[in-house]
Amino acid sequence: MIKVNIEGTLNFIDESELRGTGTARDFNMSADTGWVNLPKSTENLAEIKEVAGKIRGESEALVVIGIGGSYLGARAAIEFIKNTPDSTDIYFAGNNVSGEYLKWIIDRIGSRDFSVNVVSKSGSTIETAIALRFFKELLLTRYGQAGLKRRLYITTDAGSPLYEMAAREGYRCLEMPPGVGGRYSVLTAVGLLPCAVAGIDIDEMMLGAREEMETGRDNAALYASSRQALYREGKKIEILASFEPVFKSMGEWWKQLFGESEGKAGRGIFPAYADYTADLHSLGQYIQEGERTLIETFVTFDRPRVELDIPGGPIHDDKIGALAGLDLGEINRAASEAVKKAHIDGGVPVIELHAPGLTAASFGALVYFFQRSCAISATISGVYPFDQPGVEAYKKNLYAILGL
Ligand code: PA5
Repeated sequence: MIKVNIEGTLNFIDESELRGTGTARDFNMSADTGWVNLPKSTENLAEIKEVAGKIRGESEALVVIGIGGSYLGARAAIEFIKNTPDSTDIYFAGNNVSGEYLKWIIDRIGSRDFSVNVVSKSGSTIETAIALRFFKELLLTRYGQAGLKRRLYITTDAGSPLYEMAAREGYRCLEMPPGVGGRYSVLTAVGLLPCAVAGIDIDEMMLGAREEMETGRDNAALYASSRQALYREGKKIEILASFEPVFKSMGEWWKQLFGESEGKAGRGIFPAYADYTADLHSLGQYIQEGERTLIETFVTFDRPRVELDIPGGPIHDDKIGALAGLDLGEINRAASEAVKKAHIDGGVPVIELHAPGLTAASFGALVYFFQRSCAISATISGVYPFDQPGVEAYKKNLYAILGL
């Protein structure tokens, strides 16, 4: 279960606000809340594992083409959990329109066998469509028509243009379940297929999410209502921070989840991410002494995956001799305590979230926790969490400039 500690916010808000009228324990169920019960519906997992097995059997690399909610969750999971050197390499394309980046992926694949999973709920996103053209050509050139059909997998909504293309051209298609928006879709084939191909135990991930679903409701509400209480006190920016670099992509996923769900109608906490201790040497000065509009949310882990003791021995002529033999996990914990105290003293409220470890179950729990908190938080703020009308503005301009 994800634990929430709000002691570090109590100098900044009145605790009664968290129990009073500003607090919501939940959000309205709607046609867009299909994600709420996903951890209970595991019937699609067999198909996902079967497809993943086929991809692993004939490919050394998988290219996942998608943008926003169609790739951020899978990338986050793979970086957070993956520690098996023998798994298939996953590359993420179609999340920009840079030729430099696309060429880097094509070069990295080189002569290795590969498959492609194109992921798009709408089936009509321009970045995705452009990258797909390149990889279709590549598959066709390398494997011929039959190989293209066999190695291209599509994840999309039933009835979307991609779905129709899959039916027309004969690609294997995994349907997204109804009522699950892009940024709430990690626990569907969108996130689970790339994870399974990368060798991650998706059953364990779903179990973690399920446990969180069953036991984590009050904690999600506490995180949501604390951040909204702080927002009402003028705290406009939330920095999610972790002391584990493998959490960085999860920070990107979190930014999208909260940014697209809450940033509407002239409202919303701006979501940022910081990677500690690295960013203490870049953003640390601002956080300590800059404009006092910040909230900081630390994500820490009970059990580090790796234990490494600081070396002793006579060759070390430095000033940290007293640390010899200490596990780095201890130092990381000390760093988080030190930063928390400094930032609270400097006027930044700190919320602490504790997850069990860097495991698939812990990832599933965090995903569910954040999705629920986000829906509650947006609801407290008075905006609808499950749409993103503002994303259309740049697309309209781009289509006009490109003459589409
Ligand atoms: O959360 C969302 O719905 C969006 O961020 C989408 O995931 C993103 O725009 C990509 O859309 P699609 O999956 O339709 O290609």
